[in-house]
Amino acid sequence: MAIQARPLHSVGVPMKRKEDPRFIQGKGHYVDDLSFPGMLYLSLVRTTYPHAEIKSIDISEAMKVPGVKAVITGKDLEAAGLGWLPTFHGFDKQMVLAIGQVLFQYQEVAAVFAETRAAAVDGAEKVQVDYAPLPVVADPFTSKTDKVLLRPDRESKTNHIFHWEVGDKDGTARALASSPKRIKQRIWFQRCHPAPLEPCGCVAYFDTMGRLQFHVTSQAPHVYRTALSLVTGIPEDKIHVISPDLGGGFGNKVPVYPGYVCAIVGALKIGRPVKWIETRTENLTSTGFARDYHMDVEIGATADGKVTALHVATTADHGAFDAAADPSKYPAGIFGIVTGSYSFPVAHAEVDAYFTNKAPGGIAYRCSFRVTEASYAIERGMDILADELGMDAVELRKKNFVRKDQFPYPSALGFTYDSGDYHKTLDVALEKIGYVALLKEQAEKRARGELMGIGFSTFTEVVGAGPSKHFDILGIKMFDSAEIRIHPTGAGIVRAGTKSQGQGHETTWAQIVAEELGLDPQNIMVEEGDTDTAPYGLGTYASRSTPVAGAAIVMAARRIREKARKIAAHLLEVGEGDVEWTDYKFQVKGVPSKTVTMKQVAFAAYTNMSQNEPGLEATYYYDPPNMTYPNGAYVAVVDVDRDTGETRVRRFVAVDDCGVVINPMVVEGQIHGGLTEGFAMAFIQEIQYDAEGNNLNTNFTDYLVPTSLETPHWETGNTVTPSPHHPMGAKGVGESPNVGSPAAFVNAVIDALSPLGVRHIDMPLTRDKVWRAIRDAETRT
Ligand code: CDP
Repeated sequence: MAIQARPLHSVGVPMKRKEDPRFIQGKGHYVDDLSFPGMLYLSLVRTTYPHAEIKSIDISEAMKVPGVKAVITGKDLEAAGLGWLPTFHGFDKQMVLAIGQVLFQYQEVAAVFAETRAAAVDGAEKVQVDYAPLPVVADPFTSKTDKVLLRPDRESKTNHIFHWEVGDKDGTARALASSPKRIKQRIWFQRCHPAPLEPCGCVAYFDTMGRLQFHVTSQAPHVYRTALSLVTGIPEDKIHVISPDLGGGFGNKVPVYPGYVCAIVGALKIGRPVKWIETRTENLTSTGFARDYHMDVEIGATADGKVTALHVATTADHGAFDAAADPSKYPAGIFGIVTGSYSFPVAHAEVDAYFTNKAPGGIAYRCSFRVTEASYAIERGMDILADELGMDAVELRKKNFVRKDQFPYPSALGFTYDSGDYHKTLDVALEKIGYVALLKEQAEKRARGELMGIGFSTFTEVVGAGPSKHFDILGIKMFDSAEIRIHPTGAGIVRAGTKSQGQGHETTWAQIVAEELGLDPQNIMVEEGDTDTAPYGLGTYASRSTPVAGAAIVMAARRIREKARKIAAHLLEVGEGDVEWTDYKFQVKGVPSKTVTMKQVAFAAYTNMSQNEPGLEATYYYDPPNMTYPNGAYVAVVDVDRDTGETRVRRFVAVDDCGVVINPMVVEGQIHGGLTEGFAMAFIQEIQYDAEGNNLNTNFTDYLVPTSLETPHWETGNTVTPSPHHPMGAKGVGESPNVGSPAAFVNAVIDALSPLGVRHIDMPLTRDKVWRAIRDAETRT
């Protein structure tokens, strides 16, 4: 369906937060604010051993702590058939509490339930565990050797989890071999953590009807309900999952964690509500890490810079369990987008994943399942190729972009890019940053020995999982849904299967309904996150909300409009065929003076509907025909201090194309937040493990979150190429800045250091790492 690229009528009208009842009326609570009579607190005993056999667990001293009501261990859970959790994509299972051995530092070993939070913590400290240490495997390359077998519980006696590949292996090898120019670089996207400001937590209780009431920090409440039913055997109608306000998620709140299962078991066994709230350290050390991909990137090209082939071989560190919450058919997520914005005639990508003695995860941190890793690999690779060719990075990109007239574009790795105008988006960015003047300034500075860099990232990502023919989680197809009810006065409610964690669905979902039905967005209530009321949906992550649920809202609203048309015809005293929807009202065709508004129709739907069915509501389950392919052109300008290695990001321009924009202010907020996270990954963040498997970044003094003091000033812009298959022409945007920006920062720093012959440094580009690279380069010369 071709749609017009036009702004929505309410675009640019900022919601007046204080006056908007939805912000005051909303549930307005976080899980940790909840309190129920008789509530117990859960604290988890965690190991400091990264790999050890459990000889014995003694809970007797813990039980003596005043207020402690119960302690459970992995063996207790195993006896109840709850020892192991299936992981979301179904290739592995995960211990709830350690059984027989521990596999990573801070793994959950026992659960202590007590009258107060302090008593639960005191009790946990008194649980005595006797460990026999085992050899630690702290990196995937050692894991590959299988000298230490990490998962004896599995049938296949190897640490290798899976091999996944896509593309033409032989064709790519042939094309690379015959390419006049060729680069090869190992590029590591370090282990990071989404670090939402609110950690994970839950309150579980069984109500007087014996129904599980489960308040939980979940980005996907319906999937939780189904997963809990499958794991515990509690019928799905006896489970009510409520995901209230979330203080950020970023993918960290997609998996089901051991604390949740223990809270439910405690509530069932003890018969009282149980609350579990993670500490910051627990969040950073045991729940959903991201990235940790070692990517060998090879690109072939002609002598004048036309790319001929791409091969990427990845070694992935998945930690102790394969707990990445990827769609079932995509063990390496949507890594196949690694050809990026470039027209590669042939390509091949492969990923081999290994167990290590580290926390499990591999979650989609503000990312469509490994798209950030893919984008970083190709955007770094293109800069290295430009260096090899002695060509300007912009010229190389422009020479190889998928052209506007090539869309819908079938990529060498099997995607059909829906739309884009990469040349235009880059031109807007170049104009905004003033590229020509910057090149001049850079040349002058270089002549003086100063280190100034200009870095680009012209990325394409793939969001909106996803079409049911390809995408499912635990077999459940990745559609999404919306239900809209319009009340007699023209106010209404929209419920969706998504769950905002700060993305502003409360504003944008109301805007979509208002746009489609000509109603006031201020009087459209938005409700998400309650499985008793919202229609079934797969939740919010991977920028899928707008491409999938946003489309469902449009379609549900259009269903309402079709029903409303019948009532409008009755009010206008003409046949239905004589009524048209124009300028946000119904009008008798060709007679602009004879109109009725949706508000009038809504009242009539309950008071004067004639022979029509009363009421005005609709539900729509949307199965997207394709993914959407947002893209952008980012430019970073940096100055690197030659003596100290300190990098200053002087300017950053981000031009994004996410198709038709619903609300520019919300999108701008998404871009600012994502760029700040990208900046953090590029310069300061890494979850490091030492060779003994000790996690070195267990709190916010070791794992730094940027504040406004170190965050650069962001300059944003946009271009609009509507998605041809989305009913509103919109593409997702939430993850774009996180996906696109790390490469721009790194490319800028490497560009600054290029006169010294530096070609690559792995993130994070800390001051000491850059200082070392400069000193090493000086020693070489
Ligand atoms: O799934 P998630 O909400 O994280 O990501 P998204 O679909 O990219 O949407 C993030 C926010 O940006 C939502 O409030 C969207 O409605 C809004 N958005 C927009 O206003 N226009 C777009 N073209 C895309 C997203």
